[in-house]
Amino acid sequence: MDKKPIIALDFSTLEEVSAFLNYFPNKKLNLKVGMELFYQQGPQILYTLKNDGHDVFLDIKLHDIPTTVKKAMVGIAGMGVDMVNLHAAGGRKMMESAKDGLISGTQNGRKTPTLIAVTQLTSTTEEMIKQEQKINSSIEESVLDYAILASESGMDGVVCSALEAERIKKKFSASFLLVTPGIRLNQDENNDQKRIATPNEARKLGASHIVVGRTITQSKDPVHTYLEVLKQWNGE
Ligand code: C5P
Repeated sequence: MDKKPIIALDFSTLEEVSAFLNYFPNKKLNLKVGMELFYQQGPQILYTLKNDGHDVFLDIKLHDIPTTVKKAMVGIAGMGVDMVNLHAAGGRKMMESAKDGLISGTQNGRKTPTLIAVTQLTSTTEEMIKQEQKINSSIEESVLDYAILASESGMDGVVCSALEAERIKKKFSASFLLVTPGIRLNQDENNDQKRIATPNEARKLGASHIVVGRTITQSKDPVHTYLEVLKQWNGE
């Protein structure tokens, strides 16, 4: 998947998806299909988007025993997605098995999908990791620990907030991907996201990819907003 902004297709119906994509005729986009769309429309939505020439990130955050995740990843690789993710909390063996599954499920001549680990969800608070997960470190340290585990387990990168990217970036090679949601064109349009950054800030903090949802999908002029995000992201 190239470095263009990834648009989160957080819709549940095909009508909503095609109404949105009709704003972008003949444009090859990076699109994220999350649980909402995938569980309501099934794999067919992935084939449709790929047939239209888009790159697809399946944001399905797998977390189960290694064998189950491996077998799921064989199927996901067969769906032809370009990027997929899992929870680093599933552990080293689960992540390694996931990668094996992706490799064995990828058809000859095709590129194995990029595999990204979720560290701590951006909805998780420090209080929750202490009281519920019994992790006795700060959220930033926990994110970094999971990123190290993900890297050691052969993951291509992690999902993190742009504000965490700077710290993680220093520890890893430039090829380790930092995929950052929580992007807004202006700091005051946060909706329910807490740790947000503009595309310009995300680039400066070292993000390799930005995921942008409502800023573009709910815009009155999605094309204009997308081009604005792209311009900032490219540092123009
Ligand atoms: O609309 P918005 O730009 O906030 O959408 C962000 C997208 O990124 C959503 O699809 C959300 O599920 C996803 N995401 C996130 N935080 C994470 C992982 C994924 O916001 N840690």
